[in-house]
Amino acid sequence: MKLLPPRETTLDLIGNTPLVKLEGPSREAGCEIYGKCEFMNPGASVKDRAALGIIRDAEARGELQPGGCVVEGTAGNTGIGIALVANALGYRTIIVMPDNQSREKMDTLRALGAELVTVPPTKFSDCNHFVHTSRRLAEETEGAIWANQFDNTANRKAHIDGTARELWEQLDGRIDGFTCAAGTGGTLAGVGLGLKEFDEAITIALTDPHGAALYNYFANGELQAEGSSVAEGIGQGRITGNLEGAPIDTQFRISDGEGLKWVARLLREEGLCLGLSSGINVAGAIALGRKLKADGVAEPRVATILCDTGFRYLSTLYNPEWLAAKDLPVFDWLRED
Ligand SMILES: Cc1ncc(COP(=O)(O)O)c(C=O)c1O
Repeated sequence: MKLLPPRETTLDLIGNTPLVKLEGPSREAGCEIYGKCEFMNPGASVKDRAALGIIRDAEARGELQPGGCVVEGTAGNTGIGIALVANALGYRTIIVMPDNQSREKMDTLRALGAELVTVPPTKFSDCNHFVHTSRRLAEETEGAIWANQFDNTANRKAHIDGTARELWEQLDGRIDGFTCAAGTGGTLAGVGLGLKEFDEAITIALTDPHGAALYNYFANGELQAEGSSVAEGIGQGRITGNLEGAPIDTQFRISDGEGLKWVARLLREEGLCLGLSSGINVAGAIALGRKLKADGVAEPRVATILCDTGFRYLSTLYNPEWLAAKDLPVFDWLRED
């Protein structure tokens, strides 16, 4: 295996993640399924790319000056990515989150040095929603920018320039399909747009969890959600700025049960400890591989995103009481009976 040369700065550790062939999913689909190891970014998730892309873009436009501040409304991986990148570049980070989020997330963000502002949870149309609060706070804070990950297309540009190009090169230009779920949609739209620039024939598929409205939108033009999901970071109800013009050829809907099955199998059979959005993505990749085969593509190769580490979910996905309370199957090896 070729060793990578030293990277010049810690920020160069973001991106250029390894790609791994997933044995079980490949067998199941009867074709090659690859996972992009985004949990190997410094913040242990795919969102480090968006954080770096948004901050670099704000610097290039002159909006973010030395000693400035980055404000975002987020409870999860994006906040972690922003806090790390901002630390490395000498900016302050302010994260606004609803006060019903897990203790672990608040502790993590505080541990990284972010200033936390908590607000009561409320609907998006309420001006006190955490996203609107974060925008106002950015406007009121001297030298601050609002990261605005949902509608700021510097997010998806990081995937056009990075993730898509890396996938193309890592697979020597032989890739037939790509799929993942959407939170902001930056990954799906960015990788989709980037791969289509290399080869228009690559099939780009949305893998939607239950409780999100995009499956129906791409299937029949209506933004309509059905069911619910406990997956964090994914599940979108509107066409965000990042999703506008995303080249989606087909779509799948994957249940939490199916996603959890793949989280369990990838851990026990392949030694990968991942979050639920990764399991849902892998189930979507299997569905896409089967569809491409049925459509006559010879030996299809499909790639997806392994979004974040399972270590972030020890009190939820890997906790039997939590799973049982949500009526979700408990992993065999965690069962006490
Ligand atoms: C765990 C996880 N998976 C997937 C995503 C979705 O990525 P994107 O926002 O690029 O659609 C996110 C986004 O926050 C996430 O935290």
